[in-house]
Amino acid sequence: MDLSLSDEQQGIQQSARDFARRVIDPIARELDQAARWPKEVVRGMAELGLLGVAIPSDKGGTGADHVAYALAMEEISRACASCGVIMSVNNSLYCDPVYKFGSEGVWGEFLEPYASGRKLGCFGLTEPMSGSDAATMATFAERDGDTYVLNGSKNFITNGPEADAMVLFAMTTRGVGHRGATAFLVPLDLPGITRAPHDDKLGIRAAHSCTIYLESVRIPETLRLGDEGSGFKVAMATLDGGRIGIAAQALGIARAALEKAVAYSKERKSFGVTISNHQAIQFMLADMATELDAARLLTLRAATMKDRKQRHTPESAIAKLYASEAATRITHKAVQVFGGYGYIKEYDVERHYRDARITEIYEGTSEIQRIVIASSLLKG
Ligand code: CAA
Repeated sequence: MDLSLSDEQQGIQQSARDFARRVIDPIARELDQAARWPKEVVRGMAELGLLGVAIPSDKGGTGADHVAYALAMEEISRACASCGVIMSVNNSLYCDPVYKFGSEGVWGEFLEPYASGRKLGCFGLTEPMSGSDAATMATFAERDGDTYVLNGSKNFITNGPEADAMVLFAMTTRGVGHRGATAFLVPLDLPGITRAPHDDKLGIRAAHSCTIYLESVRIPETLRLGDEGSGFKVAMATLDGGRIGIAAQALGIARAALEKAVAYSKERKSFGVTISNHQAIQFMLADMATELDAARLLTLRAATMKDRKQRHTPESAIAKLYASEAATRITHKAVQVFGGYGYIKEYDVERHYRDARITEIYEGTSEIQRIVIASSLLKG
């Protein structure tokens, strides 16, 4: 297994790292505390080509691979997990399925502006009564000649308040379970679409999410992604890629916590020495570093498989499961290393601790990842 990075991968990693240090680090705490949408960061990420990393350059993207995407996601998320998820939703959950399942006819309007970052996309799968059990969605698309009429609602839609278009999943046939689901592209300025105010969240507070309502929204059949009835598979295949992005986001959050814990342990004194001299602290730091490394290797393995066009369903689930739970453990320990200072907003580790938590929930909870992994073991 070759663990070396190509010049292109290193270049994208470095430019994301420099941008994160220069532009995001100074404002990350304020973005979190004010729950402020980071417009200037999104513009900067677009200029760097970070909003369509693995989309070919003739379709508005950077034309790099998914390893480069994961590396960049880690760098951006190290500075600000909210900025990381804004990036990942546009890359993995919007541009990727539009490229993979859309026809050339839609790429000009619905891929190029998004992969280049002039516009922003979101992903509409979750509904108020359908989260983990995605096949029970109630949003319905009724065929009417060469159009569809959409009715329903989608919630917890990351980028929802700011997005220009959504990859939306709706039922086109009732009573046949997941085989009745179809994927669509929906411009979000159509009559009949309304958005609720953004959710007030525990973490990733600057990445806005909201509920989106669709009332008799009419779209042409040319905006269907894939065949009627194939929507569930479009969603699952998309999430195979999305979970790599969330694993990389978890890596970034965990790395930020570890770096800050190491630095703090060398400054803070107790019992006459810096706390880095205490084995209790050293063991925590060692465990944090070990878990972070393991999580990174799993994430890069899944990304490499995606680049090789190998089926990577369980590998993505393993990476996301391990990286997200490791991020929770690592940020928990970072708060412990900081002691009382870890619990107040003057230091960033409490933000990393809150931000880590969502990585165990969205794009499939840890329990869903275990179902995916076990099902692949038991099938094989
Ligand atoms: N790729 C392609 N096809 C797939 C697939 C994949 N990864 N996984 C399953 N399928 C296919 C199966 O082959 C099967 O097809 P056939 O019927 O033709 O054989 C079909 O899909 C159904 O598969 P299952 O029987 O395994 O489906 P299930 O209903 O038992 O369970 C599940 C599926 C894994 C629980 C799934 O519902 C799931 O992943 N749920 C979680 C949903 C989720 O992750 N939501 C996140 C929302 S997005 C988000 O969070 C965005 C954000 O804000 C950041």
